This record gives sequence, C-alpha cells and structure tokens, in this order.
Amino acid sequence: SKLNIGVFVGSLRRESFSRKIAKAVAGLLPEDFQSKLVDIGGLSLYNQDEDTPETTPPAWVVFRQEVKALDGLLFVTPEYNRSVTPVLKNALDIASRPYGQNVWSGKPGVLISVSPGQLGAFGAYHHLQQTMAYLNIILLNQPEVYISNVPSLLDAKGEISNPQTQKFLQTFAAAFAQWVRLFPVKQTN
Ligand code: FNR
Repeated sequence: SKLNIGVFVGSLRRESFSRKIAKAVAGLLPEDFQSKLVDIGGLSLYNQDEDTPETTPPAWVVFRQEVKALDGLLFVTPEYNRSVTPVLKNALDIASRPYGQNVWSGKPGVLISVSPGQLGAFGAYHHLQQTMAYLNIILLNQPEVYISNVPSLLDAKGEISNPQTQKFLQTFAAAFAQWVRLFPVKQTN
C-alpha cells in the first residue's frame, strides 16, 4: 500500500497561491505516495469547554483520526502579519488535544511558506517551526522552502511555469519522500 501524505494549506482563499504550490508539490511525489488535501476550513475555533468526551464536535474527532492515520505531513502556508494564519494554527491546536493525545507527535513533516511579496512568509515559517517542534512534528530542516513573488512563478492554470522553481520543488519532493520513508508506516489502508 502507498504512503499517505496529508496536505495542509494555511489559506481558505479560493485562488490561494499556497494551495496551488501544495498541489504542485504533491504532484511531484513518487508513485508509492498518495496525498490528500485535508480540509481545515470546516473546523470550528478550538474551545476547551467543548472538548469533553460528551461534547467534542464530530468534525474535530474526524480530523484527529485523519491526522493519526497519516504517514507524512505537507504544510504549505502564507503568513498573516508576519505570523501563522489562524486557520492553520487552529488545526494544529485541535489535533494536539485532549492533553496527552497529540496526534501530530512523531510524524515526519515539511513546511513551505508562500508569499506574493519578497520575504517568502519567513515569519510564518519560523513561528510554525516553534509550534511544530513543541508538537513533536519531526520537520525536515533542509532544504528550506520560502516561495517569494509567487504570482510570477505560476501560469494561467495555476501550474508552476518557472523552470528553476519546478526543479527545486522536484528536489524538495524527493527529499520529503526520503524523509517519510525513514519513519514507521501507519497500517491504515
Ligand atoms: C497578508 N499578506 C501578507 N503577506 C506577507 O508576505 N506577509 C504578511 O505579513 C502578510 N500579512 C497579511 C495579513 C492578512 C490579514 C492578509 C489577508 C494577507 C498577504 C498574503 O501573503 C496574500 O494575501 C497571499 O496571497 C495569501 O496567501 P494565499 O491565499 O494566496 O495562499
């Protein structure tokens, strides 16, 4: 069976550049991988009062199960005001709880930050590293991927038109695949 990669996009925007980059990278993974865009926009804002065995929102339960079954995590996100977008932070928080049942723990992940501007969402990238280290998401540290000036890298169909970017992301996808292969496989499919 194939290795399952969950794709998490830190933007809900219909024409999100981050989602386009995420799809491109997912499409570059080797044949023994399958990826799925995980919906995080439907998760309500985390509230501890609701997180009791009787009252946990079903969407949180499903999301936690979905994360638990993954072999690897691909995060692609813009930054909002030099930090993490709330939709992505909310998803990270939901699957980190209840206390002691953090389903992110021990999973291999990679992070890509995306911006139409010059700085490649560096702020979000580094704030996410802090949270992900705490959650015991085992991030691949190199190569780092900061995508700047993203509109200039995509064609009208939203596919990568810049050959250097394409080549770099191909190398990155191969490194991610190697990374995931180092970890135990989840027997879920
Ligand atoms: C932004 N944007 C932005 N960009 C950036 O490079 N650094 C930043 O700090 C911010 N801050 C910010 C705050 C808020 C509230 C919004 C809505 C936007 C711009 C952002 O990068 C741009 O809208 C991207 O297109 C969003 O990513 P998606 O939706 O294309 O994936």
